[in-house]
Amino acid sequence: MKKSIYLLSIVSAAVVLSLVSASGCTKAKAPVNMGTVTCSDTISFSQQIEPMIQTNCASCHGYGGGTSPSLSNHAEIASNADNILGTLHGTPQLMPQGGPALADSLIQQFDCWIQQGKMNN
Ligand code: HEC
Repeated sequence: MKKSIYLLSIVSAAVVLSLVSASGCTKAKAPVNMGTVTCSDTISFSQQIEPMIQTNCASCHGYGGGTSPSLSNHAEIASNADNILGTLHGTPQLMPQGGPALADSLIQQFDCWIQQGKMNN
């Protein structure tokens, strides 16, 4: 009797372990690959890009923050777009300053906005 309970607990532990390892814990993070982003949806400057910059960058770059480049309107963001995208990936330095890096989905939106012509939409 005792032996069968012992065996049962070993079997159930093995089942739990195999379920855990099958549940995606080993899923690798997709590599960041600048320039090959597929942009199926049109990105909106006013709905997506400007709020992203205001939330994460404006405290230092414009809107009262004095750090160059100023990023407080469409023209300033568009003319610095490639540089901004670089910094989101950590080149030449990671922005937001001090990290953490923005979510991949936000960086991808910014990349798509550039590829779609940096529209003021
Ligand atoms: C806490 C303040 C702060 C925040 C927030 C911040 N930055 Fe910066 N950023 C700086 C400072 C300071 C520099 C200048 C660093 C230097 O010259 O060494 C800088 C430099 C830059 C540069 C120029 C980089 C270069 O060397 O050419 C870009 C572009 C930039 N930031 C974009 C951004 C973006 C985009 C965000 C938001 C995602 C952001 N920053 C958030 C402080 C900040």
